[in-house]
Amino acid sequence: MVRALKIKKEKGSEAKKYLQEKNWLDTSIMIGKSAQRYLLFPLTEKFDERLLLKKFPDAKIVERSLQKLEKKKGSLKDLLKGVIPDKYIDKVVRSYDVVGDIAIIEIPKGLERLEKSIAWTLKRTYPNIKVVAKKAGKVGEIYRLRKLEILTGEKRTETIHKEHGVIIKVDLAKAYFSPRYSGERLRIAKQVKPNEKVLVMFAGIGPFALVIAKEQPKCKIWAIELNPDAYKFMEENIRINRMGHIIKPILGDVREVVPKLKEKFDRIIMVLPESGFEFLDLAFKAAAEKAVAHFYLFSREDELSEKIEEIKKIGKKLNRKVKILRKVKAGAYAPRTQRWCIDFEIS
Ligand SMILES: C[S@@+](CC[C@H](N)C(=O)[O-])C[C@H]1O[C@@H](n2cnc3c(N)ncnc32)[C@H](O)[C@@H]1O
Repeated sequence: MVRALKIKKEKGSEAKKYLQEKNWLDTSIMIGKSAQRYLLFPLTEKFDERLLLKKFPDAKIVERSLQKLEKKKGSLKDLLKGVIPDKYIDKVVRSYDVVGDIAIIEIPKGLERLEKSIAWTLKRTYPNIKVVAKKAGKVGEIYRLRKLEILTGEKRTETIHKEHGVIIKVDLAKAYFSPRYSGERLRIAKQVKPNEKVLVMFAGIGPFALVIAKEQPKCKIWAIELNPDAYKFMEENIRINRMGHIIKPILGDVREVVPKLKEKFDRIIMVLPESGFEFLDLAFKAAAEKAVAHFYLFSREDELSEKIEEIKKIGKKLNRKVKILRKVKAGAYAPRTQRWCIDFEIS
């Protein structure tokens, strides 16, 4: 018998994220399901019952016999043993992303001579991976592209990725795409209501627009992108997913395009965490009387309130009020710097 959090399925992803953050989810045991749409999350010994039930008042702590997860024998971690020194294994295992059938890996400094063996091991572990490429060089400033070097597999950087029921075609050498925003895309998409006008600045190949259109087909989306290659993929993705009646792609610089749009927007998404502040005035000017913005930025936790003040200051200058709705950690960036999404209301 193990102690488990019994919670309604609808609350499942929020609860899982919370338990993972607190290190209270026992990952050696399978998550259980019960009748009436409940999930059972196995808990580690150190969980705080009072805090947990305060966070999820409708949930219960129950005792159940849940199945133990068998340790996967051929996991990447196991297979890397003997290929690279033990101290690097966790770093390598954590470092890679998979987009479609391409794995993109970061080779730790000093391990370059072993990069081919790492790539072969990765490809052997996951037969669905057809290409392993390494990050080579820094991310470019405007289009956010990074040079990739293929280590093993087919000589291509184009692939088809699937996410939340949409098909996303991309050439990773020509356009930015990160699967790490997947949870964020769904989180935002679920907030969009029928008839909303949504503006996606810095739209890339269109993943935010596509996932929103899938979740809320009764909205209208304007998606602006500067990189002509990324824009072409966005057009193609809209076509493949048959969303031409929902998403309007626009090629150009948001600085020039947004002021020319006639519409005012109920929701504005800005995914340019490095320099989004430079464009924030555009959001305040394009916002409907009452609107919600999802603004991405990089910040250390202890500097976040300063950045939020900056958002309010820019709004005030343009006679708009800002009410902070949420501060969401949306991934790590550097050792003490996180990627955040600040959701705020504009009125
Ligand atoms: C961090 S990427 C995000 C792309 C996309 N939203 C996604 O999540 O995959 C930022 C994108 O903004 C584009 N970009 C940069 N400056 C821009 C500008 N002034 N106007 C329009 N797009 C811009 C880049 O080409 C890049 O595709």
